[in-house]
Amino acid sequence: MDGEGVSGQSKKHHKFPGNRCSSGATAMPICASNTAILVARSMRVLPSVDKVRRMSGFTSRVSVVERSESAHWGEGVSLKIAVLKETRPNERRVAMVPAVADKLTKLGADLHMQSGAGEAVKLTDSAFKNVAFSSDVSALVRDADVVLTVQPPELSILDAMKEGAILVSFVYAHKEIELTRRLRDKRITCFAMELVPRISRAQAMDALSSQAALAGYYAALLGATNLARILPMMTTAVGSIRPAKTLVMGLGVAGLQALATARRLGSMTEGYDVRPETKEQAESLGAKFVDTGVDARGAGGYARELTQEEKDRIATVVTKHIQSADIIITTAAIPGRPSPKLISKAQVEGMKAGSVIVDLAAEGGGNCEYTQPGETTQVGQVTIVAPLNVPSLLGEHASELYAKNQYNLLELFIKDKAIALDWNDEIIAKTALTHAGEIKNEAAKKVVESA
Ligand SMILES: NC(=O)c1ccc[n+]([C@@H]2O[C@H](COP(=O)([O-])OP(=O)(O)OC[C@H]3O[C@@H](n4cnc5c(N)ncnc54)[C@H](O)[C@@H]3O)[C@@H](O)[C@H]2O)c1
Repeated sequence: MDGEGVSGQSKKHHKFPGNRCSSGATAMPICASNTAILVARSMRVLPSVDKVRRMSGFTSRVSVVERSESAHWGEGVSLKIAVLKETRPNERRVAMVPAVADKLTKLGADLHMQSGAGEAVKLTDSAFKNVAFSSDVSALVRDADVVLTVQPPELSILDAMKEGAILVSFVYAHKEIELTRRLRDKRITCFAMELVPRISRAQAMDALSSQAALAGYYAALLGATNLARILPMMTTAVGSIRPAKTLVMGLGVAGLQALATARRLGSMTEGYDVRPETKEQAESLGAKFVDTGVDARGAGGYARELTQEEKDRIATVVTKHIQSADIIITTAAIPGRPSPKLISKAQVEGMKAGSVIVDLAAEGGGNCEYTQPGETTQVGQVTIVAPLNVPSLLGEHASELYAKNQYNLLELFIKDKAIALDWNDEIIAKTALTHAGEIKNEAAKKVVESA
């Protein structure tokens, strides 16, 4: 076999389509530095590198890769990763931080970023070493092999990406029907960060957890700063102040972090969830567990929707805890469903004067019947805080953790300057939203194809 950078090991296939050459091979530029990669259509038709240079019109480095999902980049030829500046309202995060950029460079990636991508979190372009910056987004993504974002990019970005490229981002396909169709039709391989399976081996890639932990922490701070009293017990010359009481409803990643933070701030804490295993977790954080006797464990470790009978039973137990709390933090979610309502209007009306609800489930409509997503509202003497995209409010650390999560995922399929997608790997298979013109995630496929 002639040609530089030839790889022949893999059986699984990741296609790198581009401009077809007369030999049946496909030539395409892979980075702005006038480098071309040629994907031969079969072992038998691999042309010489000189021929590739002539065919493709590229005069500098060219490497030849057999038609294989393990596409190796040869000496001096690298894999182009592009990181975009976020464009959605109130999104401050960025999918890259300098420490992760260094690690990706060591993996052999040629890293490109949109100018000012990190400015919302005070990360200047000059903080990144060995990264090429450009303000031309189309040019950035046109020849990128991998595009990294936090929020799903605009449709125009997908149109500018080359077929067969990889996008790694949060997507939430049920809210992004058109975008998911475009990913499918453009044959983009999309790894949706919200689909990373909740298994031990994937913990370091689990951006839902890293972002939820930050949100939980911040919810406790929002509760404390919206309260006209302090959280810890304090003994003063004029008497003692009793500690505040914080009730956390929904003890997933965010809820447990909220419990821990409220306790560190000096509050007494109580936790409630419909998954009984959370009792021990809450107690290990020094909180009391509000036991309603309802077990609503659903599939995959998540909760299921409650019956009306269960809701009534819970309300009778939980109401007195709601009424005695100074801060209530709600985080309850059911995958793919609107947020369950845990606090009724009547329960809010029965709360202590000056108390605060922080509704972390606002994105899905909220856990309280009075919640107005994105607003802070006053209902009688009760304040309801319902922020959207809370991790973005802690953009510096949220970006750091998110970039590390993405790096750990990329490490699964970038090896020796090559992309190798192993579809037998549960993490690769379950995180893929689209690949090779198909929607791979069954739930997303159903929603998108029936819309
Ligand atoms: N790698 C891993 O193994 C891993 C990582 C993260 C999370 N997990 C698990 O995944 C599961 C979901 O975690 P999450 O943080 O994404 O949760 P989530 O955001 O889906 O939901 C938050 C919490 O709300 C609770 N909830 C739902 N309906 C409720 C109701 N009506 N009343 C009270 N509470 C209600 C859920 O039980 C959950 O604890 C948990 O079991 C968690 O331990 C596993």
